[in-house]
Amino acid sequence: EADTDTYLIDVTLLAGRLPARPTFSHKGTFGHALLLAGSRGKLGAAVLAARSCLHGGVGLLTVQVPAVGYAVLQTAVPEAMCLADAHKHELSELPDLKPYNAVGLGPGIGQDDATRAVLEELLCTAPVPLVLDADALNLLGANRSLLDLLPPDTLLTPHPKEFERLTEPARDDYHRLELLRDFARRHRCYVLLKGAYSCLATPDGQRYFNTTGNPGLATGGTGDVLTGLALALRADKRLSPLDAALLATYAHGRAADLAAVHTGQAGLTAGALPHYIGRALQELT
Ligand code: APR
Ligand code: MG
Repeated sequence: EADTDTYLIDVTLLAGRLPARPTFSHKGTFGHALLLAGSRGKLGAAVLAARSCLHGGVGLLTVQVPAVGYAVLQTAVPEAMCLADAHKHELSELPDLKPYNAVGLGPGIGQDDATRAVLEELLCTAPVPLVLDADALNLLGANRSLLDLLPPDTLLTPHPKEFERLTEPARDDYHRLELLRDFARRHRCYVLLKGAYSCLATPDGQRYFNTTGNPGLATGGTGDVLTGLALALRADKRLSPLDAALLATYAHGRAADLAAVHTGQAGLTAGALPHYIGRALQELT
């Protein structure tokens, strides 16, 4: 297919896509996000995604975690409201979605049957934009019939292994990018295939390659930071699904580039990244 359907995610492409925060804005201007994340031993994923969502500019954030994580979240992320799931170690129930402008599911959730049921209910009932990552994607890959329930414009953020579970093993990198475009078209969703040059595929069959980021990102939890940031931008009613995904992808990598100036690549941790998100976004406004 023509390479006019291929773009680079850089400052030129993003110019004018991120509106400034208006003087007379308030919490409601920037949306209320719901993050469903964490399980026993993986609450750090929920903390990282939550902090990142807040640094991404969300107006309000509610995080639902398994009961074991309630005190962790309230302590580590005091800005967020917290809902304790009835289940102690895994997510097992979907809250009323009415208050929320976007819902994120996946970081650290594990693949328990009760959690699969939450995913299924979310896909069937969600009246709001969705961001799906990590084990939410692995659950989709293991239950392919759920793919037919994906609401249009859902954002999926797989790394190559998660993408393979959603589709099939790729013969090579070129084949993987073809599978990516086909998948996004067929399911009418946005799919960000993560890697050194992350590629966002759209429901229209376009592909956007990211230009920011560095190997310092090859460390646990940086994907969870991306999920939180993407959730924040998806909750902002002023942004289209495409612009939210493009801006999150670029700003996540740019935050890593800014962080590495201070920490070096080896010293970069996922926990340090959220502090640079605000500057990365500011550069785009
Ligand atoms: N150069 C630039 N960017 C990179 C590089 C690199 N060499 N390596 C990784 N990245 C970026 C990716 O583009 C992505 O944004 O770092 C992020 C890594 O995200 P994930 O692969 O999801 O990693 P992680 O955050 O550790 O995931 C946490 O969830 O997906 C599951 O199995 C995963 O248990 C793990 C957990
Ligand atoms: Mg991940």
